[in-house]
Amino acid sequence: MKAVAVLPGNPNSVHLRDIPQPQLADQPHPHVCRIPEGRAVLVKVLQVGVDATDREINEALYGNAPPGGNHLVIGHESFGQVIEVGSKVTELKVGDYVSCTVRRPGGSLFDVIGRNDITSEETYYERGINLCHGYMTEYFVDDAEYMVKVPVQLKHLGVLSEPASVCAKAIEQAYLAQQRLQVWNPKRAFVMGSGQIGLLATMMLRLRGLEVYTLATKPGPHRKSEIAEAYGATYVSMKQTTLHDLAKKVGRPDIIFEATGNAEACFRAMEVLNLNGALVWTSITGGSHKIEIDAAKINLEWVLGNKLLVSSVNGNRHHFELGIQALSHGEMMYPGVTKRILTHPVPGLDNYQEMMRLLVEDKEALKVFVNVA
Ligand SMILES: NC(=O)c1ccc[n+]([C@@H]2O[C@H](COP(=O)([O-])OP(=O)(O)OC[C@H]3O[C@@H](n4cnc5c(N)ncnc54)[C@H](OP(=O)(O)O)[C@@H]3O)[C@@H](O)[C@H]2O)c1
Repeated sequence: MKAVAVLPGNPNSVHLRDIPQPQLADQPHPHVCRIPEGRAVLVKVLQVGVDATDREINEALYGNAPPGGNHLVIGHESFGQVIEVGSKVTELKVGDYVSCTVRRPGGSLFDVIGRNDITSEETYYERGINLCHGYMTEYFVDDAEYMVKVPVQLKHLGVLSEPASVCAKAIEQAYLAQQRLQVWNPKRAFVMGSGQIGLLATMMLRLRGLEVYTLATKPGPHRKSEIAEAYGATYVSMKQTTLHDLAKKVGRPDIIFEATGNAEACFRAMEVLNLNGALVWTSITGGSHKIEIDAAKINLEWVLGNKLLVSSVNGNRHHFELGIQALSHGEMMYPGVTKRILTHPVPGLDNYQEMMRLLVEDKEALKVFVNVA
């Protein structure tokens, strides 16, 4: 069957290759974990989303092949349909729609208790990213433990399950950490970034009843500003209004969800957070980026204001479930809005070069995904 893969370490090595079609009895990553007897699920891939991580893997900035080979099948944002289940799978049946989590457990205590998203080991085992093949293929098999059901009514948004899990986890982490305050009832949020992560976070914070300001660079109106506003948020171009001016005008935010991919924005956010507030960092910033900040001022304000910084990456099945619930709730509250994020469908795995071109070159591409079947 067809698969889209890279040769880790070799820039621009994305290619189509032929790999064996998996069987229910296969062990997809025996070097990491084994599927218990009877718990395997075979999935026909319907759609796979791509993001900056796939672009950077193709640029050979990270990613490693599973042991014993030199290629890595890419794709970590999965959506598919169950075509066969093992004898001990009770939670899924043939025909169900599913997404599958990304990380597989290592050996730390966190991995053992099902929290591989916060593993304390340096090495991550992530399907389509590091040491485990991904989903950009026609079929895959994995443990039912890692499959999350997507309601049939939500199948048009199923490919957003993984990005939604990232946002749901990051927001939940902030709320959990803020239990330190005993009473915390945030009213105002700034979401920095209006890519897929910023927009889904905007939706989730609106669903929690917050007044949300979604900040990015380009002045609206355009698709991203329209989506943010259709969720009931206010879109702000930082070319027109600075973070400080916005905070002065509307009040300081109780929560800042940072998702720009820009290291300076991560630190500038610290300058405007409200007393007792929570800043959530989700950006993954490669390379080196030096900036000048008034460290004494920030430190003083943060200590005297009891402020909190939470960082969040990845998500386990609980976060996928939360993300899918939020997508469902969002669809009820803001019908038809979220599908506007899905801007650039690519027909079939054969068009992998077009997929990569859109991801690298097309600045209008909010979400690129491959319609595999
Ligand atoms: N933590 C995790 O598990 C996880 C998972 C997935 C992704 N991520 C990371 O999350 C970040 C966002 O992902 P994405 O896919 O949504 O990215 P994206 O599509 O590239 O969106 C980035 C957004 O940030 C805005 N932006 C860039 N620089 C800015 C600045 N200086 N000030 C204000 N806005 C700025 C852009 O504005 P314009 O729209 O005006 O260009 C755009 O809206 C990335 O760093 C990604 O690697 C993290």
